[in-house]
Amino acid sequence: MGDAMLLAGKVALVTGGASGIGEATAKMLAGHGAAVAVLDREAAGLERVVSALHKTGAQATAHRVDLAQTDSIPAAVAEVLRVHGRIDILVNAAGISGEEADVLTQSEANFDRVITINLKAPFRLIQEVGRHMVARGGGGRIVNVTSSSAHRARRVMAPYGAAKAGLAQLTRTAAADLGRHDINVNAVAPGVTMTPMTATIGDEAEFAKVIAEGPLANLLGRASKPEDVADAIVYLCLPGSRQITGQTIHTSAGAVV
Ligand SMILES: NC(=O)c1ccc[n+]([C@@H]2O[C@H](COP(=O)([O-])OP(=O)(O)OC[C@H]3O[C@@H](n4cnc5c(N)ncnc54)[C@H](O)[C@@H]3O)[C@@H](O)[C@H]2O)c1
Repeated sequence: MGDAMLLAGKVALVTGGASGIGEATAKMLAGHGAAVAVLDREAAGLERVVSALHKTGAQATAHRVDLAQTDSIPAAVAEVLRVHGRIDILVNAAGISGEEADVLTQSEANFDRVITINLKAPFRLIQEVGRHMVARGGGGRIVNVTSSSAHRARRVMAPYGAAKAGLAQLTRTAAADLGRHDINVNAVAPGVTMTPMTATIGDEAEFAKVIAEGPLANLLGRASKPEDVADAIVYLCLPGSRQITGQTIHTSAGAVV
């Protein structure tokens, strides 16, 4: 049996799966044989990703949910369970960068929105999916997508940095609570990654400048592609990482060392 079947029979729920890092992760998990429930608020992206997955022969379903409405999370998870019967893997990749402003001029509304989508929604998803994993007798993998902004100060991103640092610590505390149920909880912290979220940076030449000098510079001198991040996320879902929990893998090419 080749690597392609390492996740055969497993079901993965990937939030933010309609774009960027979540999309690359959904496709890679499916490539290892997992059935994938793709959750996002963007209908067009969902349709595009799920039909691409179907073309490869993968089992995939689209779940249109706005995670800003955290009340909708229990029903969303119940729907995934109704369709797929189980969830073995949860990847919390949905996130927003929020409005850029100095800490003194940040609006409370932006702070609340960024915290809700980037921290509270992953918390509620860990609860809902974790309860299912425990009720089923334990076993499972949870991967949270944080950011190098959780580990170093970046200007005009105070709510984002606070939310991602919260998610980094939630990763450790959830790992502490869920370890006895054989559930591994880890994080992947991307640095500058070329996705729609960072499209405002510009073309590849502009990215090259950003990662060569200034606050977002990294040791390897190159920006990441979504697949560079997905590789680390998927590793944390594969059998070979079974002894790893409560950890963060940085995929920032050495922006945080
Ligand atoms: N791109 C980067 O440079 C970078 C760096 C560090 C961390 N990250 C993190 O990686 C994750 C993925 O980001 P990306 O770069 O792929 O961005 P992206 O914008 O391409 O993808 C994010 C996805 O999340 C979805 N989403 C956002 N808010 C949602 C909501 N309320 N409900 C449901 N879905 C929602 C979006 O529709 C989108 O499909 C995010 O958590 C982001 O903070 C990205």
